[in-house]
Amino acid sequence: MVAGARYDGNDFMVQLTNSPVAPVRKFRALFGTLRSMAIRRIIRMGHPLLRETARELTTDEIASAEIKRLIADMTDTLHDYGGIGLAAPQIGESIRLAIIEIPGGETRYGDLAPLSFSVFINPRIEIVDPATAGYWEGCLSVPGLRGFVERPQHIKVRYLDEKGDELELELTGFPATVFQHEFDHLDGKLYIDRISDMRLLAFDKEFEQHQLMS
Ligand code: NI
Repeated sequence: MVAGARYDGNDFMVQLTNSPVAPVRKFRALFGTLRSMAIRRIIRMGHPLLRETARELTTDEIASAEIKRLIADMTDTLHDYGGIGLAAPQIGESIRLAIIEIPGGETRYGDLAPLSFSVFINPRIEIVDPATAGYWEGCLSVPGLRGFVERPQHIKVRYLDEKGDELELELTGFPATVFQHEFDHLDGKLYIDRISDMRLLAFDKEFEQHQLMS
């Protein structure tokens, strides 16, 4: 900061134009305060909060700056850890909110249609077809492990987005599993609770080494 320059809104842009650091500050002046990354710590299995039933958000809360901030923090956290979904309880907030972002293309779960980054608040799942299929699931709150879980593969989800709009989404296949896994976190459940054959729980390393499949 140049001595005497005030850092408030557009004023400083003019004042700092001749400063060697002006370009950066000019950028900040044009685009507002640069939001700093906020990567939150993900709590792990054993933390009692992961076993609580999270509470619903009110319309006022959804519109609040606190929830906008929380969604931004969760986004940074998800991208930093490299997951495809994160529920608020996983960062220690016992509220019914989750974010999901499924990159499309060829993955170990097959060829997937991408699901762009979305926020799900107070979601409700309706099972359209109870027929199940299983996937090896992992969880950022249960690091280093994966387990084979069977879940219904055709569901409908009703939820509010970050603007508070009511939306509905129908999902089949792997994405249906992802949504059920994330929303389970809002009810204090972890995927390990749903493994029917505990022999199908493995460390990542052994899973890769022995090419476990089911
Ligand atoms: Ni999880």
